[in-house]
Amino acid sequence: TYEKVWLIAALVLIVGFIATVTYGSVGLGIAMIDDSEETVEPGELGEDERFADPRVEQVGENEYEAYVVAQTFMFSPDPIEVPAGSEVTFYVTSRDVIHSFSVAGTNINTMVIPGEVATMTVEFDEPGEYGVVCNEYCGSGHHNMEGQLHVV
Ligand code: CUA
Repeated sequence: TYEKVWLIAALVLIVGFIATVTYGSVGLGIAMIDDSEETVEPGELGEDERFADPRVEQVGENEYEAYVVAQTFMFSPDPIEVPAGSEVTFYVTSRDVIHSFSVAGTNINTMVIPGEVATMTVEFDEPGEYGVVCNEYCGSGHHNMEGQLHVV
């Protein structure tokens, strides 16, 4: 019957969609594990030692923490360098207005709000170079706000 045909078509679409999403992260060797949010005073970023010196820090054998600051119109550090085969927890905040931290071609994409710390843990399996872009309009230099993420 037609009903059966539609049911099968719908199932095929759903399976196809899941396969696409799965392939999207596995194929790139980048997998999002977790994301959340906390708060920080934007005026005190310089005194918050996590963000006073934006950097990637090794915290375990294959574990790293990346402290990233977005501001008009750049990301620090730039490039962000992480080793292949690592698990990296990103802590991202803004020094001024709302930006985003979006890694082109991956599912890493988070709003960066002054006063809040966007947190996400990502697995990097394979080496690669990615563009970091800002997807939230943040002023005259918005379209030039970009950085680099190097998996080495
Ligand atoms: Cu920062 Cu757009």
